[in-house]
Amino acid sequence: MESQLDYHTAKALLEWQVEFGVTETISDVPVNRFEVAPEPKAKPVLVAAAQARAAPVRPMHPAPVEVDGTVLARAASAGAHDIAALKVAMAGFEACELKRGARNLVFADGTPGARVMVIGEAPGREEDRDGLPFVGAAGQLLDKMLGAIDLSRTENAYLTNVLPWRPPQNREATPEEIAMLLPFLERHVTLAKPDFLVLMGNVACQAVLGKRGITRLRGEWDEAMGLPVLPMFHPAYLLRNPEKKREAWADLLSLKVRLRD
Ligand code: URA
Repeated sequence: MESQLDYHTAKALLEWQVEFGVTETISDVPVNRFEVAPEPKAKPVLVAAAQARAAPVRPMHPAPVEVDGTVLARAASAGAHDIAALKVAMAGFEACELKRGARNLVFADGTPGARVMVIGEAPGREEDRDGLPFVGAAGQLLDKMLGAIDLSRTENAYLTNVLPWRPPQNREATPEEIAMLLPFLERHVTLAKPDFLVLMGNVACQAVLGKRGITRLRGEWDEAMGLPVLPMFHPAYLLRNPEKKREAWADLLSLKVRLRD
C-alpha cells in the first residue's frame, strides 16, 4: 500500500512510536498464523546420521597392542638360569611365526660346556623332523670336519643354530627373525660357556657379528659376545662348492691351534 504521508511526517510518527517503546514493526496486512507453513523439522534419521558422522568412533575392544618379539625373547631368555630352562623357555615362545610352521624345536646337540660352540643358520627338513641340529647331509659333513681336528658332538663340541625353527621352504632367515631370536642365542652362549664360537655361514655372522660377506670374513678371528669367534664356510655351501674345502681345512687348523694354546 502506497504511503500517503510525506517523509517528515512519517519520520516524526516513527520516532513517536519508538519513544513509546515500540520494538517491532508489523506490516499493515495481518498475518494468518494458521495458514503459515510450520518450520520443517529435520528428519530424525538425518539427525542420527549427522550425529554418527560427528561423534568419535568408539571401538568395541581396545586396539591390539603391538608386541615387540625381541623384548619378549629377552625377557623369556633372561629368566632361564640353565640350558634346560632355556630350552623350555624357547619351546614356550609364541611370538615367532616360524614356530607354527615347524614340526619341532631344534634347540641344540652335543656337549654343553664344550670349549667349541658351533652356530649354524636354521634347521632343514631332517633337523625339523628329528628336533636336532645338523643331522642332514650338511651335518654329516660337519661331523667329518670336526672329526678332522679331534672334535665330536658326543664329546667336545656343542651345536646350535640362529633359528630354532625351520623356515618355510628352507628360505633364508629374515633380519627381523634374526633380531627377534638373538636374545635366546646370546643367553644360550652365556649358559653354555664355550671358549670359542664357530660361525657357519652368513646368517650366523649376521646374527653374532652384525655383518655378512663370508668369503671375506672366513678364517679371520673376530670377537663377539665376549669370545673369540671364527667365521667359516657353511658345510652346505661346501657340499655345493667342494673346491672351497681347502679354505675350510685351513680354518679348522687355525681353530685346532687355538684349542691347543
Ligand atoms: N644347516 C644349518 O645351518 N643348521 C642345521 O641344523 C642344518 C643345516
